[in-house]
Amino acid sequence: MSNLLELERVSRTYGDRRRPVHALHGLDVVVQARSLTAVVGPSGCGKSTFLQCAAGLDRPTAGTVRLAGRDLGHMGERERTRLRREHVGFVFQAFNLLPALTAQENVLLPVRLGGGRCSPEDVARARDLLARVGLDGRGDARPGELSGGQQQRVALARALVTAPDIVFADEPTGSLDQETAAGVLDLLRGVVDRDGATVVVVTHDPAVAARADRVLRLAHGRLVGDTVAVPA
Ligand SMILES: Nc1ncnc2c1ncn2[C@@H]1O[C@H](COP(=O)(O)OP(=O)(O)OP(=O)(O)O)[C@@H](O)[C@H]1O
Ligand SMILES: [Mg+2]
Repeated sequence: MSNLLELERVSRTYGDRRRPVHALHGLDVVVQARSLTAVVGPSGCGKSTFLQCAAGLDRPTAGTVRLAGRDLGHMGERERTRLRREHVGFVFQAFNLLPALTAQENVLLPVRLGGGRCSPEDVARARDLLARVGLDGRGDARPGELSGGQQQRVALARALVTAPDIVFADEPTGSLDQETAAGVLDLLRGVVDRDGATVVVVTHDPAVAARADRVLRLAHGRLVGDTVAVPA
């Protein structure tokens, strides 16, 4: 099995020297390709910071992040942006949809940012993803016309539209009821089991953790638990 993502002694400190906040503390994590990893732990323990450093959206204060064997710290901003666009999908904890765009336009945004025009295949894929997250026929709605849980699912469809090799999702079921959450989880499992992608998901939801291949537990910016599921 290949290591798609490697974090070596990664630290991330916010604030200034007099009042530092150590969000991550010398974290060592290796994630294998074609796996679903859940990241759990109490609020403020560093889960979102971990995800953003792993995805190359944030730079660690110290340590190394390698994605597909490439050291993100040795890349320029443009190169990292291109790597993210081509290989990474990201669902933000706060969704980050653009309010002026419709749901379908939001889903297609990564395609447009990557190269301009959307092909008919891209549009079909966006519609299919919206249907798969339970938003069939809502592609024309703007975020302001959608509930929190619906916006969250648009954000997930957007993260998947480019068929990324690795998907990072920050609490993708946080605003969903059990049944809708189970559907989202089916989709993420399918992305791993059927499409062969890799998913790292931050969650407070025991149902999500229960269906992960591995559960990483953080506390105070450190790894305090690493449980691998026994195949059924
Ligand atoms: N931009 C920032 N500036 C200063 N401190 C920050 C910043 N972002 C996060 N922190 C601090 O870093 C720590 C880790 O935050 P992080 O957002 O990673 O936690 P989390 O585990 O995702 O929490 P939650 O479950 O509430 O989303 C917290 O103490 C937080 O206050
Ligand atoms: Mg968070």
